[in-house]
Amino acid sequence: MTHTSASSVTSVAETLRSKIADRSARVGIVGLGYVGLPLAVEMARAGFHVTGIDLDRRKVDAINRGESYIQDVPTRDVAEFHRAGRLSASADPSALAALDTINICVPTPLRKTKDPDLSYVVSAVETIAQHLRAGQLIILESTTYPGTTEEVVQPILERRGLTAGRDFFLAFSPERVDPGNEKWHTKNVPKVVGGITPECATLAAELYSASIDTVVPVSSPKVAEMVKLLENTFRAVNIGLVNELALMCDRLGISVWEVVDAAATKPFGFMPFYPGPGLGGHCIPIDPFYLSWKVKEVGFEARFIELAGHVNGAMPHHVVEKVADALNSHSKAVRGSRVLVLGISYKRDVNDMRESPALDVLAALHQKGALVSYHDPFVPELPGREWPGEFDLTSVPLTTETLERADCAVIITDHHGFDYDRITRHARLVVDSRNAIKKPHPHVFKLGAPTVKR
Ligand SMILES: NC(=O)c1ccc[n+]([C@@H]2O[C@H](COP(=O)([O-])OP(=O)(O)OC[C@H]3O[C@@H](n4cnc5c(N)ncnc54)[C@H](O)[C@@H]3O)[C@@H](O)[C@H]2O)c1
Repeated sequence: MTHTSASSVTSVAETLRSKIADRSARVGIVGLGYVGLPLAVEMARAGFHVTGIDLDRRKVDAINRGESYIQDVPTRDVAEFHRAGRLSASADPSALAALDTINICVPTPLRKTKDPDLSYVVSAVETIAQHLRAGQLIILESTTYPGTTEEVVQPILERRGLTAGRDFFLAFSPERVDPGNEKWHTKNVPKVVGGITPECATLAAELYSASIDTVVPVSSPKVAEMVKLLENTFRAVNIGLVNELALMCDRLGISVWEVVDAAATKPFGFMPFYPGPGLGGHCIPIDPFYLSWKVKEVGFEARFIELAGHVNGAMPHHVVEKVADALNSHSKAVRGSRVLVLGISYKRDVNDMRESPALDVLAALHQKGALVSYHDPFVPELPGREWPGEFDLTSVPLTTETLERADCAVIITDHHGFDYDRITRHARLVVDSRNAIKKPHPHVFKLGAPTVKR
């Protein structure tokens, strides 16, 4: 292992700088999921030779066949860069030693107790530490609590004697990918970067500038970590607020949808958020709890986060209550009724069903004795282990007969491809948790809006 004297830090940095500038730097991405694969492709597009490292052999094999498995990443891009020798993947961590830069994009879930589960980050960093050499730039991208880069990642990387900021470079840069968003993607969403030294920040910024339009340097990894948690907490709290408003509107006989749309005409000081069946995805329901957990260490209670968590977490149950109300209007009980859930993924037009409120709605209806089925063109199969039911489900075709056979259809995800006129015409009862059906109908029960009398 070679150490870098203080005087030669600049020359180590200069070597990496010139490799980034002439694209001869070997770029590595650890974790090739929703975040890692789009980044790998952008880096390859910028002219780097990119090696993706993932434990999941199916992903590694797909990349090496030139195929994408992420909806937002076209297979033609993966194929083109793979053919050109600029994108490959490996499950073998020994590939790490040859890399000049390594971005870590592994999952950061919560434990059942809502405490952060950093095991994927720790395990990836331990593997990198075994292959670490002087001159490498390591960037953590996984969303996490402020302090992780310096308190968790840096000590592991330094275990074998190299020093961050002197022998190798270390930074944090939060990922802001929004799956399914056609306007904003990896290249045009500004990238916030914080390094453990100014040189670390500059090198990370130079790497990103090769493939991303705007880089926003901040003073430390802690600030960069906190930026991401502010962004996601902002969404969780505002969604919590508007979900609570929907419940108020339900009681008051006012349409929350009309209220939000009218309020959104204010040209300043207001930003519309919309109610729904609950939070979903790998970010908004999870990330704020990384912050509330961390601040407990310093004796602080993150009340907005906890409150938003309660309100948002209860939304699937309100949807189930609406289903019960709708069935009641036809003198039916939930038990024994056929309920068709429309949409399983956590948001419109994506196939990601992680933390989706649809799973809670399905489970609650099943527990109450409803005969559940679902339709989602993005989720053809729903194995029993993915929802707390005991059996596998398969998406049923959305035919007139399917709609007519169900006692109630529940819109959970407002996919663009759904034919809402047909749903309205043929379903006996509809519960709409997304304001997908704009016109009022006596048999459509909308979350946060009065039901029209016959
Ligand atoms: N998905 C999003 O929309 C999104 C948006 C912004 C930020 N993030 C954050 O980015 C991070 C990654 O999220 P994601 O959605 O891409 O997750 P993902 O589950 O889609 O991908 C993570 C990948 O990491 C791999 N992996 C796990 N441990 C590994 C290891 N030790 N070595 C190599 N590979 C390993 C997994 O096999 C998987 O392919 C998380 O912290 C998440 O909070 C996600």
